[in-house]
Amino acid sequence: MERKEGSLDDMLSVLRKFTRAGDAPAKAEASTNIVAERTPPASTSVPVSKADAGNIDLARQLLQAINTYTGFRSTPSLERKLALVLRNVSASDVANLIKGAKDGRNYQDLTAIVEDLTNHETFFFRDTMQLDPLTDEFFPKLIRQRAKDDKRLRIWSAACATGEEAYTLTILALNALCAAGYASFHQSDGFRLQDGWKLEVLGTDISRQAIRVARAGCYQASSFGAFRQMPGGWQRYFVAMDSGPGRYGNEAKYMSVLPSISQHVRFDTFNLISSNPPLTECDVVLCRNVLIYIDHDRHKTIHEMISRSMRTGGVLVPSLVDQVDAPRLTPRWINRCAFYEKK
Ligand SMILES: C[S@@+](CC[C@H](N)C(=O)[O-])C[C@H]1O[C@@H](n2cnc3c(N)ncnc32)[C@H](O)[C@@H]1O
Repeated sequence: MERKEGSLDDMLSVLRKFTRAGDAPAKAEASTNIVAERTPPASTSVPVSKADAGNIDLARQLLQAINTYTGFRSTPSLERKLALVLRNVSASDVANLIKGAKDGRNYQDLTAIVEDLTNHETFFFRDTMQLDPLTDEFFPKLIRQRAKDDKRLRIWSAACATGEEAYTLTILALNALCAAGYASFHQSDGFRLQDGWKLEVLGTDISRQAIRVARAGCYQASSFGAFRQMPGGWQRYFVAMDSGPGRYGNEAKYMSVLPSISQHVRFDTFNLISSNPPLTECDVVLCRNVLIYIDHDRHKTIHEMISRSMRTGGVLVPSLVDQVDAPRLTPRWINRCAFYEKK
């Protein structure tokens, strides 16, 4: 590949050279903070020109700015993505971007870069071993409690990516309300909630592009592959769009979430490292498959913020690998998954 003088690609390849020259390259993917940890050892044999040294410093500052803004931990894979995103950006533009972010004047360019660094992998009914206990235990219990007071269920899908998780939770909650006799499902117009009941679901993500897709609520039919753990009869939650001849006969190209489901859901951008939650009094919060990208030091603060978003009796469902340590959140193990109830 042709290398452009002064481009970020130069900076990062130099930085990677130092990573390789360091003592423990095998640990690189698991290690957390390049900015702090990958200072070249004094004894390194890699020759450093003055220009290289300036580039390394700029690359470090950029990674630091991204870390401050998003909490993202630096890994070689993040660096590779970053190098790709910025391969034609000049060093002076990078310097301006860092300056803007530092002054708090211009986060826009940084936000645009962050869009390309995030991974939006998600799907409907993801990880049923975590969802089944919601259906079998938590939703029925919460509905029994709420039936005695404000008849309202509030759910937050934090880091919802393109929205599938938020719609899944809405479907599970509506089905639980049907089972309790407070809602019904009709083939002609979908779910109908009994008078007096309210279901409010919020999906948030740092990515504006992901939130745009989530708001549209329309997904490629091919993404509902047979290998996904979709429940029987899942098609009734969608309107098939743009049908035409396909490999297996007449097939829809897109599936749009039923209005009687989407009317309960709203989406907004929200950065998990913000100090205040976007919603309070939540009964159920899902925060899955996101902390893996964020510095470990920040997890406790994020879980504390989530705890503040919850009502007493509410439940947090984290990723299977997350360790939650926040006041008033007590773990309960079901299906070998931890559910954190707010006491
Ligand atoms: C792999 S997806 C997980 C989606 C969904 N929770 C799931 O488990 O299927 C991770 C999402 O986290 C979002 N994300 C990353 N850092 C974030 C942050 N600091 N604040 C909010 N969202 C963030 C990304 O934009 C991405 O859409």
